[in-house]
Amino acid sequence: RLFIRTYGCQMNVYDSERMRDLLVPLGYEPADAPEGADLVILNTCHIREKAAEKVYSELGRLKPLKAEKEASGGQMTITVAGCVAQAEGAEIQRRAPVVDLVVGPQTYHRLPELIAKVHRDRGEALETEFEVEEKFDALAAPKRLVEGYTAFVTVQEGCDKFCSFCVVPYTRGAEYSRPAAQITAEVRALAAQGVREITLLGQNVNAYSGEAPAGEEAGGRWGLARLIRHLAMIGGIDRIRFTTSHPNDMDEDLLAAFATEEKLMPYLHLPVQAGSDRILKAMNRKHTAADYIALIERLRTLRPDIALSGDFIVGFPGETDADFEDTMRLIEEVTYAQAFSFKYSPRPGTPGADLPLQVEEAVKDERLQRLQALLGEQQAAFAASRVGSTMDVLVEKPGRHAGQRVGRSPWLQPVIVDEKAGEIGDIVSVRITKAGPNSLFSEPA
Ligand code: SAH
Ligand code: SF4
Ligand code: F3S
Repeated sequence: RLFIRTYGCQMNVYDSERMRDLLVPLGYEPADAPEGADLVILNTCHIREKAAEKVYSELGRLKPLKAEKEASGGQMTITVAGCVAQAEGAEIQRRAPVVDLVVGPQTYHRLPELIAKVHRDRGEALETEFEVEEKFDALAAPKRLVEGYTAFVTVQEGCDKFCSFCVVPYTRGAEYSRPAAQITAEVRALAAQGVREITLLGQNVNAYSGEAPAGEEAGGRWGLARLIRHLAMIGGIDRIRFTTSHPNDMDEDLLAAFATEEKLMPYLHLPVQAGSDRILKAMNRKHTAADYIALIERLRTLRPDIALSGDFIVGFPGETDADFEDTMRLIEEVTYAQAFSFKYSPRPGTPGADLPLQVEEAVKDERLQRLQALLGEQQAAFAASRVGSTMDVLVEKPGRHAGQRVGRSPWLQPVIVDEKAGEIGDIVSVRITKAGPNSLFSEPA
């Protein structure tokens, strides 16, 4: 039995699925709780201190479960994967000896072999390594076991931007783009399994620059817009999204794709982090607030129904009240349909952590509250603005109440639909009747 717990971003969700797909053919059966599991994988996140600490409290909870398993004559192999594994390495085992294996994101393909080694070191007469490797060979192109009608597809990994607050360039390494042909094959296979909506993933997805398919000019590369136009031609794929983007990589071709590609959803997550040019500079974002606002205006001209989502950090070192007010002003000017906001968390090894003028916790708290109140109002206003309109909803799962199903709007909002409106997997046209705090309500259009 295999239990995987996933923390952090969608990239980790994707990686966890890939690890599962790699291990299931070796005989592991996915379980939804760690109790009694033979293999537990914690796929961890290092982005903020709180995220990184979660792994140690979870390891504390796993300790008695591992002991129990041993007492009943079995073994529980505990593996720490993901960004904490990459950042802290063997240090994890020193701090938590309960851990058997630490594996970073660049080495997941070696997981079967590494797990076999753990068993061998214990002196267990399990399956021979040979058998494991033979099975592993058969997995050169692991088949994706998809559930449902939406799927993530990693197209790009790593980041070369080095924002001064961020660990990602250290935990995920340099930018790498998968060849376009490989991505196309994966999306075709997903479509064949019934997937209708794909989200292209990358830490810096709009910096995508992948090898063009054979037959194109030799040595040619495709940007994200070219890739999207190609994937949009695959039968069965009706909706395309991508995340996360950096403002500096929003090139003309990609902006134009929002105007010309019907399958590209009118929703963009485009983090700006702060609205003060002084702070943006200290963050090494390499754009100004005005650059960002001009970009949003251009997008709205090209695709008037586009909605924006963003990320914000309050309390970056040196942030004054006036800097913070600049962020509030930027939010008022842009207006977001959705946003994520965080108190700055100094991360060891990043330039921001060593800056003077770290902001006091109480100040960060107060700023975050004000920022979240404004973003919350905007989110509610955006939801309310949909009432009375007609939209297409991809029905994804049963609802909490009888007779209901839940789907997604083009803007990623959950929409409650009547089960008579359509089956799970259908894209149905509905009229929005009411906006709740977390979802929209609808009637068949
Ligand atoms: N590649 C993405 C995601 C980075 S992590 C991007 O460039 O947007 C997601 C968000 O976490 C970031 O956008 C940022 O708002 C936040 N974040 C990253 N490091 C942080 C830190 N040290 N403290 C607080 N928030 C942070
Ligand atoms: Fe981190 Fe900046 Fe790269 Fe995003 S662009 S992953 S915030 S370094
Ligand atoms: Fe976290 Fe790593 Fe993603 S640090 S946000 S899991 S890239």
